[in-house]
Amino acid sequence: MAQLTATLYTSHVPAIGAAMDLARDDDPYWKPVFDGYAASRRWLADHTPDVVVMVYNDHATAMDYSMVPPFALGVSDRFEIADEGWGRRPVPDPLGHPALARHLVHRLMASGFDMAVLHHPKVDHGLSVPLSLGFGRVSAWPCRVIPLMVNVVHAPVPTAARCLALGQALGAAIRAYADDGLRVQVWGTGGMSHQLQGPGAGYINSRFDCWFLDELVARPDALAGLSHEAFVEQAGTEGAELTMWLVARGAQMAFQADGQRFDELHRHYHVPASNTAVGHLLLAQRVEKTA
Ligand code: DHB
Ligand code: FE
Repeated sequence: MAQLTATLYTSHVPAIGAAMDLARDDDPYWKPVFDGYAASRRWLADHTPDVVVMVYNDHATAMDYSMVPPFALGVSDRFEIADEGWGRRPVPDPLGHPALARHLVHRLMASGFDMAVLHHPKVDHGLSVPLSLGFGRVSAWPCRVIPLMVNVVHAPVPTAARCLALGQALGAAIRAYADDGLRVQVWGTGGMSHQLQGPGAGYINSRFDCWFLDELVARPDALAGLSHEAFVEQAGTEGAELTMWLVARGAQMAFQADGQRFDELHRHYHVPASNTAVGHLLLAQRVEKTA
């Protein structure tokens, strides 16, 4: 049985990656953003997982908009960092975990989630920015990475309820993995409230974001009832990325159903970063001390 040592939640704004790549972390604009990740980065250095399942949306990088599956898993042993138009980020290519990825595909299919399988996807800021926030500037990422892509960009997109259910099936699949003691984390990325286009561009709703953070920790089931219209109205068009946080939270629910406990170690909320509200949570498995 593999372990779920933490679930982590973070925005994946590309400008955060650019700020790190240009060593602007200490600029007055960026410092408050990065300061909010320092404690999590320290915790991760002491609790480095073997594998991160990175839940994010492909931004027309691995797939163009002529075909976007609801859910897709990357099963290769290495993922090339994409050039998104400004040159590729100077970060290492993440290595995959094909054995666990294939196990997850089979288990999820058996649970009723027909996953698209991506053999050689390039990966974009949705995956690389969270890795940079979690692990800093490194010459090699300290763990393997499995991309789990959720369509939030091209209608029709999966519902919040479906994302939470996928997460629960994902958690059960991780638990069922034969490699005893493999330390897995599931990271949900995207959000928080933001709108990049149209008359509502620049929209931020801090009240909604803070409510969402509270509910995600305490009552994730309640969030599963939110419609897409509610996400767009409350959190802006790109705020709908928050449905992906429910996948990570669902995975944790599967372990909680098995009696595991998780503690909220860190929370961070900051406005603005680029045109968005930045949010972050770290929920870690409680390790019971033996007397
Ligand atoms: C931007 C892009 C994103 O994918 C996102 O999640 C937030 C912001 C941007 O282009 O600013
Ligand atoms: Fe995004």
